[in-house]
Amino acid sequence: MRILLVGHSLLSPWTSYTHRALNRLGHSVERFYCTNLLVDRLTLSGNKDLSAKGSGPANGARGAREAWHRWRDARLIARARAFRPELILVLWGNTLSPELLRTLKKESGARLATWWVDDPFRHRAEKLIPLYDFFAAHLPSPDENLAWGDQELSGSATQRTSRSYSVLWKETFKRPLGNESWSYHLEEIRESLGLGEPQGKILDAGCGEGVDLAIQGKRPGVKIVGVELSAGGCWASAQRTRGLAAAQVVRADLSQLPFTSDAFDFIYSYGVLHHMASPSAGLRELVRAAKPGAWVAIYLYEDFQDRSPGWRIFLRLSNLPRHLTTRLPHRLLYALCVLASPLVYLLFTVPFRLSQRVSFLKRRTSRMPFRHGSNPWDLAGDLYDRFATPIERRYSLSSAQALLREAGLREIRIANRRGWMAAGIKP
Ligand SMILES: C[S@@+](CC[C@H](N)C(=O)[O-])C[C@H]1O[C@@H](n2cnc3c(N)ncnc32)[C@H](O)[C@@H]1O
Repeated sequence: MRILLVGHSLLSPWTSYTHRALNRLGHSVERFYCTNLLVDRLTLSGNKDLSAKGSGPANGARGAREAWHRWRDARLIARARAFRPELILVLWGNTLSPELLRTLKKESGARLATWWVDDPFRHRAEKLIPLYDFFAAHLPSPDENLAWGDQELSGSATQRTSRSYSVLWKETFKRPLGNESWSYHLEEIRESLGLGEPQGKILDAGCGEGVDLAIQGKRPGVKIVGVELSAGGCWASAQRTRGLAAAQVVRADLSQLPFTSDAFDFIYSYGVLHHMASPSAGLRELVRAAKPGAWVAIYLYEDFQDRSPGWRIFLRLSNLPRHLTTRLPHRLLYALCVLASPLVYLLFTVPFRLSQRVSFLKRRTSRMPFRHGSNPWDLAGDLYDRFATPIERRYSLSSAQALLREAGLREIRIANRRGWMAAGIKP
């Protein structure tokens, strides 16, 4: 591939490392340095020194820098025209202006990619990242990550959702998963709805701890991107997919995906939309990113409207603790869920298993909650999921169908499996 690599300054080792790595991978790469440390240093110190004495000379320093930027931008555009790259990779996402990015794209027809080294939820990042076709975020350690950007997410519910899952995925990461080729959530959706095995570019929207990413990223012919809101989830997903070139993780809010329209061959989102402030806006965004003809599949909690009054009362009662639990410190809540897990296993999973041996009871208990536990400690994550998240919406069959229809999906399929598995095709 022909890549124009827009690096930092001549002294930046990252630019030469990246250049060497891309060359080794067989790409044809040209380098362009977009920062001149000398100019920046002189004009910045000019600004600082002179600002106290009045605005004129400071304007002069700023003017000099602007003139240098104009000259640099013109050189970069000329280089892109001459080299005709297929990809322009800007190493530091915040170095080029939106106008320059638009011009580069128009003049060269290349795709734009960047590595965003700091918080991709900052104001400037929010303006710039959508102009890129691809971006990768810097993923530091999970603790570093907790402070990273969460305070600037839009709305306190989104913030709390992000923090609660950060804690969950860091906790569950401590538990070995064993053989990661077992069937996971994408398989469950596919099986329930009779969908074929997806190929090409897949988006896992709200990929959580990245188990599906690690499974799908090993399938030939698949490139999978996981988008995840929580820092801990991004971190766990990055760890699980380390060394898997076909799986990528991007930290982003599903309601503002950093992808161009019509980009993915298959999109799914398991257990995410019902935790969003606006599930319909989230689903519309997924549909936007899907290619025409692609399946968009989701999993939603059910509201038990089609069940007996006993189950509906049970759901109401089990929701009551949420008034308290959604306000508890996350780590404390997780510890409580670990303690409660064996009890729930005993009350739900064990009776379900026994009932499956009695034909009279088999059908009656077939939709028992928490029937899927595989061992007494296994349900801690599910309990936490139920009791930590500030937003939890539930759907009837008809409201789930309406959600998909209103997002513009066609040929809708829907099945009940511990909630609604639903999918539709983007026309
Ligand atoms: C119940 S978990 C499901 C995780 C994963 N899909 C799975 O099947 O294991 C929901 C995930 O959605 C993420 N999430 C919630 N709101 C989101 C948003 N607005 N954008 C992106 N991810 C979000 C959470 O951080 C969490 O990891």
